[in-house]
Amino acid sequence: MYHVLTVVGTRPNFIKVGALHRAFLAQPTLEPRLVHTGQHYDREMSGVFFEQLGLPRPHKYLDVGSGSHAEQTARIMIALERTVLEDRPDAAVVVGDVNSTLAAALVCAKLHIPVAHVEAGLRSGDRTMPEEINRLATDAVANIFYVTEQSGVDNLRNEGVPEERICFAGNVMIDSLIRYRQKAAATGTVSQFGLERGRYVLMTMHRPASVDVPHRLERLVQAIERIAAVAPLVFPIHPRTRTRLDDKGLTSRLQALGSLRLVEPLGYLEFLDLMASAGVLVTDSGGIQEETTFLGVPCVTLRSSTERPITTELGTNRLVPLNPDAVESAVREALAGRWPKGQIPPLWDGHAAERI
Ligand code: UD1
Ligand code: UDP
Repeated sequence: MYHVLTVVGTRPNFIKVGALHRAFLAQPTLEPRLVHTGQHYDREMSGVFFEQLGLPRPHKYLDVGSGSHAEQTARIMIALERTVLEDRPDAAVVVGDVNSTLAAALVCAKLHIPVAHVEAGLRSGDRTMPEEINRLATDAVANIFYVTEQSGVDNLRNEGVPEERICFAGNVMIDSLIRYRQKAAATGTVSQFGLERGRYVLMTMHRPASVDVPHRLERLVQAIERIAAVAPLVFPIHPRTRTRLDDKGLTSRLQALGSLRLVEPLGYLEFLDLMASAGVLVTDSGGIQEETTFLGVPCVTLRSSTERPITTELGTNRLVPLNPDAVESAVREALAGRWPKGQIPPLWDGHAAERI
C-alpha cells in the first residue's frame, strides 16, 4: 500500500479534492489520507463542502486559522511537519495556489516526500498576487505536475521542467461540477431566490487587489450599484470582503439596494445551481472563470490578468477593468446575449482525477 497524503485548506481546495480523493480510494494500492490545515474554518467556507462532496473527516485538522501570509504559512509548516514526520507518507498531493498549497509543498519537499502539484503551471505574470508567488514557489519544489490547460504545459517547459514530469490531466474542479450538476439543480436554489433563468447576475469578489484597497473597494461598490440597476444581483459575500465592507461602513449602502441579495457564502450545490442558470457572473475568482467556461455562462472577470488564459481564448470569460462604466456595459451585453458561446477546453471531461 502507498500512503498518499492530500493537503487541503480552503474552499476551492475542497472542491478540487472531492474528485481526487474518490479516485484514490478506487485504487486498491493507495491509502489516501486527508489533512485539513484549517486555513478556512467557518462552516460555510469549509464544513459544508465536506458534507456536500462526501469527503471524509480529515485524518488531521491542523487548526491554523487566519493570519498574515507569513504567520499562516509558518503555522501550517510547523504543524504539518509534525504530522508528516509521524505518518511518513509515500507521496503528497497539493492542489491550487493558496497558502496551504505552498506550505505543504515546502514541508514535504524538505522531508524528501515526492510532491504532486495538481493545477500546476498556471501563471498570471502578476507577482503582486499572493497566489502567483504560491504557484511559482510550489512548482519550484514539486516533483510531478498535473496541468489543466496547455498554457500550464508551456509555462512549465519554459521554466525548464523535464517533459516526463508534466502530465496534461484535465481539470478536477470540472470533475466535481459534472458529478454534482444534477444534484445542484435538485436544490431548487434558483426558484427559492425567486430568480428567472438567464435574467440575473451572480457575483463573487474576494481578491486583496479588489477589496483591500479602499479606492478600489469604493469603485466595486459603485459597480455593484450600477449592476443592481440593470438586473437582480445575488452576491454571496466572502468573509474577507464582508470585513472590508463593514470596516468602511459600506455594507448598509449595499443593503439599501432593492435588487441586490447580499447573502453568506453558499454551499457548493446551491452556488452551482445559481451559476448554471445565471445570465452572467461577475467575479475575481480563479475557479469560477473555469466553471463558467464549462457551463457556457458569460463571465466578467474584474481583473487585469488571468492565470487561466484558455477561459478567455476558448471559453466565455472576459477580463474587464474594475470601472463602473465598463462593468455595466459588459453585464448589459451578456444579458442581451451578445457574448461568445465558447467551447469546452480539452480534457475538461469529468475524468481528470482518474487520469491523475
Ligand atoms: C484564500 C486564498 C485565495 C483563494 C481563497 C478562496 C491565499 C493567499 N489566498 O484567500 O487564493 O482564492 O482563499 O476562497 O491562500 N475568514 C473567515 N472565515 C474563514 C476563512 C477566512 O472569517 O473560514 C476571514 C479572516 O478574516 C481572514 C480572511 O477571511 O483573515 C482571509 O482568509 P485567508 O484564508 O487568509 O484568505 P482568503 O482571502 O480566503
Ligand atoms: N463557491 C461556492 N460558494 C460560494 C462561492 C463560490 O461554493 O458562495 C465555489 C465556486 O463554485 C468554486 C469555488 O467556490 O468552485 C471558487 O472558490 P473561490 O472563488 O473562493 O477561490 P478561487 O477559485 O478564486 O481560488
